[in-house]
Amino acid sequence: MEKRKQRILTGDRTTGKLHLGHYVGSLSSRVAMQYEYETFILLADIQALTTHFEQKELLHQSIREVTMDNLSVGLDPEIATIVQQSAVPSIAEMTVFYSMITSVNVLRHNPTIKTEAKQYGYKDLSYGFLGYPVSQAADITFCNADVVPVGEDQIPHIELTRRIVRKFNGMYGTTITEPEAKLSQVSRLSGLDGNAKMGKSLGNAIYLSDSSKEVADKVRRAVTDPARVTKDIPGDPTICNVAKYHKIFTPDEYDTICSMCRSATIGCVACKKKLTDSLNTLLDPFREKRAYYEDRPELVTEIIQTGTAKANALGNETVRMMKDAMHLSI
Ligand code: TRP
Repeated sequence: MEKRKQRILTGDRTTGKLHLGHYVGSLSSRVAMQYEYETFILLADIQALTTHFEQKELLHQSIREVTMDNLSVGLDPEIATIVQQSAVPSIAEMTVFYSMITSVNVLRHNPTIKTEAKQYGYKDLSYGFLGYPVSQAADITFCNADVVPVGEDQIPHIELTRRIVRKFNGMYGTTITEPEAKLSQVSRLSGLDGNAKMGKSLGNAIYLSDSSKEVADKVRRAVTDPARVTKDIPGDPTICNVAKYHKIFTPDEYDTICSMCRSATIGCVACKKKLTDSLNTLLDPFREKRAYYEDRPELVTEIIQTGTAKANALGNETVRMMKDAMHLSI
């Protein structure tokens, strides 16, 4: 008998368009894995509410934008399932069940929660924000995902999911799958401005939907080796943001570029131009695919609805099984 393909589930908060950091950290690997694994991509609009509850318009638009970001980089809607989190009630039900067996102290000590709370300036955390890792455990397990491809910052959440699943299964005799994290190769893309991370809220992001001109402008403003004031002063690629990007986006020429920088045979302007070319070569096919979906909004709606219906069937079954095990079914 043919074995069922392993399942992956991963997701993005719908708090704006996705950027290159998302691409290298997560999107590229999910696209590569979609043929080998049964793939679920969650549009995490409930999780987006934990920080963006007041931004109704942004959240609304982002559901479609994040879908198009995924489709434009090559996620194939014929084989991958795109799911709108808020339209899957079983995830909310599972969150409530899981919340009963999750310690508030464990959530308080979650390093990602702490970093994000600081980043957003929260002193007094909302119940929903503190508890979103519990909801994320439900996201992952409603379909019994085996593998969760994520960046490093998500590891505490996957650990918590595993802990919850073990406890629940142990208590009720269920067989919910304990998922494994699959760390992406590049888990953090630094900002071209020198910030440790590319981020929407940091204002240093190159979006997958940026035009070639926008990309050129952003690269032109990138911070390089500050000591290299003129072209004939040799540069130090180890402290240059543009060099870090070449390593990822121009890998074949990376060594040559670095030695040309060190010997002052390439200047920052030409080096940046090269990076712009590499980025636009990557992004051009994405732009073309995106344009296709932008012209067909009803197709995008249909892709989300079809995927969500499939998720509901699976999630309802999981909740039914959980309720039976908890002796809540009458
Ligand atoms: N927390 C993830 C992020 O901030 C998004 C997310 C929501 C997610 N639900 C998920 C990731 C389930 C993996 C699995 O990027």
